[in-house]
Amino acid sequence: MAPTPLNADARARMEALNAEAAQYAIWLRTQANAPAQRPWFADTDVKASGEMAQGRVAAGQMKAAPHHWKWREISPYLDKIARIATEADVPPVEFADRQQFLLTNPGLGGRLQVASTMRCAVSIYNPGDVARAHLHSPNASRTILSDKGGYTNVEGERCEASRGDLIFTPNGTWHDHGNDGNEPIVWVDTLDWPLMEFLDIIWLDEELPHEMGRDNLRAQKAVYSTGHSRRLYGQGGIVPRFANHQRGIGHQLSPYIHLRGRDIKESLTALRAEAGCPYEGIDLALINPVTGASIFPALGYGAQMIRAGEETRFKRETSSTVYVVIEGRGETEVAGQTFKWEENDIFVVPNFLWRRHKADLGKDAVLYTMSDAPLLEKIGQYRAQGVDAKGKIEQLVA
Ligand SMILES: [Fe+2]
Repeated sequence: MAPTPLNADARARMEALNAEAAQYAIWLRTQANAPAQRPWFADTDVKASGEMAQGRVAAGQMKAAPHHWKWREISPYLDKIARIATEADVPPVEFADRQQFLLTNPGLGGRLQVASTMRCAVSIYNPGDVARAHLHSPNASRTILSDKGGYTNVEGERCEASRGDLIFTPNGTWHDHGNDGNEPIVWVDTLDWPLMEFLDIIWLDEELPHEMGRDNLRAQKAVYSTGHSRRLYGQGGIVPRFANHQRGIGHQLSPYIHLRGRDIKESLTALRAEAGCPYEGIDLALINPVTGASIFPALGYGAQMIRAGEETRFKRETSSTVYVVIEGRGETEVAGQTFKWEENDIFVVPNFLWRRHKADLGKDAVLYTMSDAPLLEKIGQYRAQGVDAKGKIEQLVA
């Protein structure tokens, strides 16, 4: 039942009082709470896209929109940045700290975020570029798009990057990036920065302790060669007892720093003949091998294969997911829109929205996912629903 509205006279008097009371930083309530979400179970229409609440209660409220960043539209800006870098006296990596563009969700008013918890950027490193060593409270990852080249050094583990690799820089770990090859290299950065920003717990340190550094303290020494964490943790179900799993001063971090794209692909391919999941295809969780928990406390990573011609069923979650297309072509229908994607495209499915994937005929598609489901699980808010074969809604996680 809708609440009885205030009559015009009473409302005008309340607003007059509000004008006066604002100086004491209070608001006299004149309307009912109006959340953007309808009740979780009410929106059965797969085209439902969530509505913004109106009025003073909702002032400042924002809602992430589904969005698709097409590689062929956004990637030319990398060349444009690189051109400035080669022609300017001071390259962007010096004046802006990074050569990158950040993805802005159209629903979030220009904020540098793709969903309520996640930030994404696409970075380019030219030959010779170095991003100096630093550490910070947000957790971050690199999804490598270039075929080969570039590195990230995480707490002395030098990770040589190849396409499809994931390199993690958990909170509180020293890391520096660079490119000592001959070709520019490109990757996608994903961070839980907006969540930390909301909590006002962002901090960053660039004063690398002297004994860890070389090159004017800009970069760390490579104490371990590439593959170090893979040698320790790369065999499922086998973890070395002698190893110290702590990296840097981080909390709840995964010591498996560098996951290779070719290992992920091998696992997906080995499982290709399995039935898989009607909602996700052949879906892998990438996890902290020591604890079995998600890679980061708030963010979980996954890789899924949608086999050529496969069409998944509609599913929705209370969490938001960012997708990076590593292989193949296909489409994702989300809240009534269809995103036709191809390699290197990035798209976001915000919380609560129905979505399903379809891979084109002829080639399997591989999607990497970044999701805030682990955060929602921890605060008791993770739920998921699917539409079963008979068209009925089933509770996947109630
Ligand atoms: Fe960083």
